[in-house]
Amino acid sequence: TDAAHEAAAGSDAPRGPQPPLFTWEFATDPYPAYAWLREHAPVQRTELPSGVEAWLVTRYADARQALADQRLSKNPANHAGSAHAKGRTGIPGERSADLMTHLLNIDPPDHTRLRRLVAKAFTPRTVAEFEPRVRELTDRLIDAFEAKGSADLIHEFAFPLPIYAICDLLGVPREDQDDFRDWAGMMIRHGGGPRGGVARSVKKMRAYLAELIHRKREDLGDDLISNLIRAGDHGEHLTENEAAAMAFILLFAGFETTVNLIGNGVYALLRNPGQRARLQQALADGDPDGLLATGVEELLRYDGPVELATWRYATEALTLGGQDIAAGDPVLVVLAAADRDPERFQDADSLDLGRRDNQHLGYGHGIHYCLGAPLARLEARTALAALLTRLPDLRLAEDPADLRWRGGLIMRGLRTLPVEFGDA
Ligand code: HEM
Repeated sequence: TDAAHEAAAGSDAPRGPQPPLFTWEFATDPYPAYAWLREHAPVQRTELPSGVEAWLVTRYADARQALADQRLSKNPANHAGSAHAKGRTGIPGERSADLMTHLLNIDPPDHTRLRRLVAKAFTPRTVAEFEPRVRELTDRLIDAFEAKGSADLIHEFAFPLPIYAICDLLGVPREDQDDFRDWAGMMIRHGGGPRGGVARSVKKMRAYLAELIHRKREDLGDDLISNLIRAGDHGEHLTENEAAAMAFILLFAGFETTVNLIGNGVYALLRNPGQRARLQQALADGDPDGLLATGVEELLRYDGPVELATWRYATEALTLGGQDIAAGDPVLVVLAAADRDPERFQDADSLDLGRRDNQHLGYGHGIHYCLGAPLARLEARTALAALLTRLPDLRLAEDPADLRWRGGLIMRGLRTLPVEFGDA
C-alpha cells in the first residue's frame, strides 16, 4: 500500500503538496517532482501542456512492467482521445507523411518483421567497425574549437557528431550531409514550437530519402540502407515506404538522444568534480576497471536523454500499480523517474560512475528496447574520453542557474553548454 511504501521510505520521503509539472523550474530539475509522484501518486492521470490527458508511470517496478506489457500498444490509432486518434504522437511534422509507420509506432506482427529485418542490417559488428570513423569525427570537431579556449559543446560538438555518424552509417553521401544537419537542426530547435518549418524539413527529408533509396536500389553499397534493401530482397517483405520510414526513425531516434546523452553527461561530470576526477584518472591509467563503460551507463541512469518513453495506449482495460486504466488511455512511462527510484537503486540521487547492478531503463525495455544502444554507447564513450583527455581542465563557462533546458515532453537536454578550457 502507499502507507507501507511511505513508512519504508522513512524521513527522506518528499512531503508537502505536489510540485508543479511542466513549468520552467520543472524543466530545469524535474527530479523533486518525480520523487513526489513516485511516493504519493505513482500512476497519475495528468493533463499535458497540449491538453491531452495521459497516465504518468514513475516507479521502477511499474515502469518496467508497463514497457513489456503487450496490452499497451504503440499504435496511435489505439488512442481514444481526439488529437491522437488522428495519429499524433508528439513527433514534429509527423502529420506530413507515412514516414511515421516506423518501429516506434507499430506493434507485432509488423514490428517483429521490420525489427528482424533491420537487426540483420544493423549488427553489433557494423557498429564496432564504425569506431575509427567516430573517433575521427570526434577529433575533427574538437580540432575546430580547441584553439579558441571556449566552446558551446551542444552546437559545436554534441549536435554535429551523431548526425554525421548516422548519415555515414545509412550511406548518405558526405556532400549531402550538411542538408541533413540543417533539417535535423530545424526539428530539434522547433520540436515543440511552430510546426511550419518542421513540417517542411520532414518533407524535404522524406523526398531525399525516397530518392536515395531509389538510387541505392540501382547501385547497392555496404551501407545500412543497401543492407536493408538486400535483406528485403531475400524473401522478407519490405516496401519502399517501410525502408524510408526505417531510415527516418534511425535518424530521428539516434540524433537528439545522442546530443543529449553527450550534453547531459558532460554537464553531470562538470557538476560532480569528484566523479569527473575519478574518470580522468582512470583514463590516464588505461581504464583498467572499465570505468568509462560503467560511467556511460550511470550517466544514462542519472540524467538520461529520454525523460519519458514514447506514447503507449491501453488496448483494453487494465490495472497498473494498483490504478485502473481504461481502454484507449495514453500511458507515458517516465524513465527519468523510474531510474531514480530508491526502491531499486541505492543512493539513487547520487552519481556513481562505477555503479554495479545498474539495470536502468534509459534505453527502454521489452520489444522496443533501443536498437541503437551499441552505437549510442560507442559515441558517448568516444566523445567523453576525447573531451576529458584532450581538454583536461574543461570547465563550465556559465552559472548552472543560467543554463536553459529544452523542456520538451519526451527528451531532456540543454539548449547550450558553454565551456572553457586552457588559459581562457
Ligand atoms: C528505441 C533511448 C540512441 C534507434 C529507444 C527507446 C528508448 C531509446 C528509451 C524505447 C522507446 C519506447 O519504448 O517507447 C535511446 C537513448 C539513446 C538512443 C537514451 C542515447 C543516445 C539511439 C541511436 C539509434 C537509436 C543512436 C540509431 C541509430 C532506436 C530505434 C528505436 C529506439 C530504431 C525503436 C526500436 C523499436 O521500436 O523496436 N531508444 N536511444 N537510438 N532507438 Fe534509441
